[in-house]
Amino acid sequence: MSDKKLVLLPGGAGYIGSHTAVVLLQAGYEVLVVDNFSNSSEISLQRIENITEKKCPYVRGDIRDRKLLLEIFQQYDIYAVMNFAGLKAVGESCKKPLSYYNCNVFGVINLLEVMQERNVKTFVFSSSATVYGDAPIPYTENTPTGIPISPYGRTKLHIEQILSDLYNSDNAWNIAILRYFNPISAIENGLLGENPQGIPNNLAPYIAKVAAGKLKELAVFGNDYPTVDGTGVRDYIHIMDLAEGHLRALNYLENNHPNFNIWNLGTGSGYSVLEIVRAFEKETGITIPYKITARRPGDLPEFYADPSKAERELNWKAKRDINAMMRDLWNFIKNNPNGYE
Ligand code: NAD
Ligand code: UD1
Repeated sequence: MSDKKLVLLPGGAGYIGSHTAVVLLQAGYEVLVVDNFSNSSEISLQRIENITEKKCPYVRGDIRDRKLLLEIFQQYDIYAVMNFAGLKAVGESCKKPLSYYNCNVFGVINLLEVMQERNVKTFVFSSSATVYGDAPIPYTENTPTGIPISPYGRTKLHIEQILSDLYNSDNAWNIAILRYFNPISAIENGLLGENPQGIPNNLAPYIAKVAAGKLKELAVFGNDYPTVDGTGVRDYIHIMDLAEGHLRALNYLENNHPNFNIWNLGTGSGYSVLEIVRAFEKETGITIPYKITARRPGDLPEFYADPSKAERELNWKAKRDINAMMRDLWNFIKNNPNGYE
């Protein structure tokens, strides 16, 4: 690329944003992170610079801070925004719904208002497969959205609807909604990864902590689902495949604007909890002790993507298999047993 294009990455210090920053920098974009570091560390930004040998500047701040955003848009020539900033713990969202609506919905509205004011209208949004509710599988982008089970999930659906209304009101907007399935694992060099604070809620980081000896055993939430072995089935996607999907979506918006589009980012294959445990054990040689417990309220038995729209339109397909996902997951945890500390 001759003219450098600057992409603003709110939440760019976090798990998905940091991996995407690497992919964007390596593709020749410039990035600017704005993050309040409520769930991340500046160390991830240093590591992005080490990996790419490029600058990853950042502003410490909150997407709800209108004055700060206006200053950022004044100071920098921003070309597009990919928003990763938000709260994402499903259980916590049931206990603190107002915090979730405030951060995830008000925060994004604030960002969009400032973008509108500054006439920057290219926006990529991190949505989730949770918007499909309990629709029949596999989910395509035409599958009607359902009612997500949690306030967290509902914040995603609200923003999707707001983005659709915004585009309908002004076709100059150029919007991509990416519905992630279950992102896991880490960049292959082990320098970035998922770094949840406290006891992880999600399967992959939990298994990794058991393997690292930090947790005693995995609780498998139910083995009486109508699935291959009774345990829950999900579409796990390698974080680098997901990050590359963002680059392709941005490229698509550049070549097909204005536009409003939704793409599933998943592999199209489901794995059960026990299949994941076995894949991890095979890849690492570490035994994961587990016990079967009750179902987790709100869990669906099985879901996975139909990713053919992204394949067709973005020329993107998840390339890394479940073994690579387990290998890279362990590589990060082994090298960073205390996260980024
Ligand atoms: P993460 O917590 O690792 O990253 C989010 C980042 O946003 C963090 O660095 C955090 O400090 C920052 N942040 C939070 N609120 C902010 C605010 N108000 N202002 C500025 N910065 C703020 O999460 P992630 O896994 O990287 O998720 C990124 C996005 O993708 C989130 O919107 C999440 O809901 C969505 N998503 C994630 C998953 C998943 O499995 N990880 C699945 C579907 C969708
Ligand atoms: C969860 C969220 C979803 C969010 C996604 C990514 C819920 C209900 N859903 O998805 O909204 O978008 O994370 O952040 O929390 N499991 C165990 N033991 C564990 C953890 C998980 O057996 O300790 C099982 C679950 O029952 C499920 C599978 O592993 O069958 C995957 O769980 P998880 O990693 O939490 O992802 P989701 O529930 O799919």
